[in-house]
Amino acid sequence: MATKPYTVRFIENDQEVVITGALRPQAPADMDGIRRVLDGACAAVEGILFVNLRKLRYLNHLGFVELIRFVERAERSAPELRIKLVISSVIPWAPRRFAMIADRHPNLIVEHYDRAFYPGQGVIENDALIPVLRTQTSIIWHHERHLLREHGLRPGMTVADVCCGIGDFAVLLRKEYKPARIVAVDHSRPFLAYATQVARDFGISDIEYQYGDATSLLLADELFDFVTSRLSLQVFNEPEKILRELIRICRPGGRIYLTNEMMSHNYGYPRHETVAWTYNRINDMCASLGMDLSFGPKMYSLMTDLGFEDIKIETIEITNRNTVVDDFARVIESWEDYVTGELSTATGQTPEMIERLRTGLRDHIYTIRSRRGYATWPLYIASGRRPVRARAAT
Ligand SMILES: C[S@@+](CC[C@H](N)C(=O)[O-])C[C@H]1O[C@@H](n2cnc3c(N)ncnc32)[C@H](O)[C@@H]1O
Repeated sequence: MATKPYTVRFIENDQEVVITGALRPQAPADMDGIRRVLDGACAAVEGILFVNLRKLRYLNHLGFVELIRFVERAERSAPELRIKLVISSVIPWAPRRFAMIADRHPNLIVEHYDRAFYPGQGVIENDALIPVLRTQTSIIWHHERHLLREHGLRPGMTVADVCCGIGDFAVLLRKEYKPARIVAVDHSRPFLAYATQVARDFGISDIEYQYGDATSLLLADELFDFVTSRLSLQVFNEPEKILRELIRICRPGGRIYLTNEMMSHNYGYPRHETVAWTYNRINDMCASLGMDLSFGPKMYSLMTDLGFEDIKIETIEITNRNTVVDDFARVIESWEDYVTGELSTATGQTPEMIERLRTGLRDHIYTIRSRRGYATWPLYIASGRRPVRARAAT
């Protein structure tokens, strides 16, 4: 059958059949195993049978048809039973096609679980964020480049960058640290399209970009020496779920490296009052979308609770005195566009409020550019080791 295998498992307690991997049968007989498990599960449960395809990486037409045949068989053999099929957008065509089938089969419920799976998804996985990500990485890298070594990264390691955005960090890291393997995962199609275009333009073919959900990664356990996730736990409403997946894919003894912000500590003097007001306001706007832009200093507790060893935490203080002024100003200019555009629209700000936000961000830019001004953007960096013996608590 298919070159890449699948697994199928019936979890009786949950009334759930979980199919993972690549489902690419070449002939109906290739589906015998799945058919047996599905039919057996159908006979063994009442109410709802869950068919979990969240971790399916590939599905071909024959596989799709076989799953529909199962729905039809169940309709006849167990008319009272409902089948809830959970599918992700990893297979872009599948949620819509299953939904069309559900219109004709009342026993089938289709859940497209990652279509609107976190409250900030619309404003984050959006190409309006691309200029923000580009300008940010350009100034952060200058500080982070050497720091990564202090947090345990070494040439030749296997690395995963989870929530990689537009992939610029993976490109920089690849150049500086020459990893043996680097996988970069994100759930935004526009960002991954951007990342793969950049890789093509730069003649890079060894960064493995992967579409996926960081809370349910399509990567095997204990694969990587060094797992990074930058500025992302803070935008996802359940950061612990991502962190548990980072632990799972990290080998025992490997390290997990995180960065996050503390938005309310952004500072600019003079004009510190409008600057402080604005960042507090942005923090609140983001909080209303399930984000926590004060997550940076909280990482230590979470990593401790999850059983990490040798936790290191520190701040990078980006200032207008240690960073190229124009580059720092460009970051805040990109925030201005994003905050007064996407973010204000998503959170329903009035025109007056938008003008106040614009003024505050321009005041920050003023303090960055001012000869006698002092402006900062602190970032929290934390890393920890996955214990060698006992698994980190899950
Ligand atoms: C603020 S951006 C940071 C991107 C990149 N790490 C950087 O530092 O430029 C947050 C990223 O997290 C991604 N993201 C958020 N939740 C995710 C999830 N559950 N699965 C995969 N990606 C996710 C978004 O698509 C976005 O690219």
